[in-house]
Amino acid sequence: MSVQSYKKPAFAKICILGAGAIGQLIYHQLAEQSQSRLSFISRDANSSVQPLRFTTIDGQVINHKAALIGQADYQTHLSQIDLLIVCVKAYQVSDALKPILPRLSANAHILLLHNGMGPHLEVISMLKGRGLSLGTTSQGALKLDKWHVKQTGNGLTQLGSSQALTQLPPLPVKLKQLLLSAIPQSDWYSEILPLLWQKLAVNVAINPLTAIFNCLNGELAADKHKQVIANAVSELVVVAKHDGIELDLDFLLQRVYQVIELTANNFSSMHQDVQHQRKTEIDAINGFVLQRAAVHQLEVPVNLSLLQQIKQIEAKYE
Ligand code: PAF
Repeated sequence: MSVQSYKKPAFAKICILGAGAIGQLIYHQLAEQSQSRLSFISRDANSSVQPLRFTTIDGQVINHKAALIGQADYQTHLSQIDLLIVCVKAYQVSDALKPILPRLSANAHILLLHNGMGPHLEVISMLKGRGLSLGTTSQGALKLDKWHVKQTGNGLTQLGSSQALTQLPPLPVKLKQLLLSAIPQSDWYSEILPLLWQKLAVNVAINPLTAIFNCLNGELAADKHKQVIANAVSELVVVAKHDGIELDLDFLLQRVYQVIELTANNFSSMHQDVQHQRKTEIDAINGFVLQRAAVHQLEVPVNLSLLQQIKQIEAKYE
């Protein structure tokens, strides 16, 4: 092959915003594929190279090095990104994206991957024509150290776009294939919102109750929680219907109890947030149900009570 005809392979440039447990897990899964140039966005002034450690579910330790893009390099680096994966908490999404979005090229695509729902409604107005995909993952990951993540559970990752967002450019096929082949048990949906509502149903039931009762997910199988779980999920089904999303209550309750069983020995993310006195994601979980209920002038007393109890717990943080 002549030197002139040699072409470098076109690596996709993927940047992750949010180096929490899920952000680092996704980084490692993409890095194993070595088909992309990966980086994290950092809030530091200067860029650096960060050694990362990853412990797989079966205890194997894998090391990678990550480029952390500092603010001094935002201008040059961010304009080259093909895909920005946003892995910050739901309540941080808008603020975290504000300094980043204007620096991305018009062709860049944004993927939001967080617990709960709601931020996409704020982000849509900031996109200026860039593409947006949404997703949720049930993979479990735990930070053992700032730059050491252990995968604690396998789980589905559901990614996709939405009818309501179709006027925006779709995720290029090459990037979609890359994500689906890198992330185990991941699927792409042309209409992702019903899947996000289904995951929300699991979270509205499990997250606040485990935090309020200071218990493992498995303890929610007890009879004393049955009524609240059924009511919280049935309120969500009514709100979703008014939002144009048809859900099946029996199917969702089965799903909730299946997750309670499968994750019986885990503490939910909200339980962990409360134990560490961190702000919880309640506003994007039961709070999202309340927000959409208000738009449709519906009452959701059980979700309201769960939200209020979590707010009371947060107010007592020292
Ligand atoms: O937020 C969580 O902890 C998880 O989404 C779930 C599925 C409730 C399991 O703990």
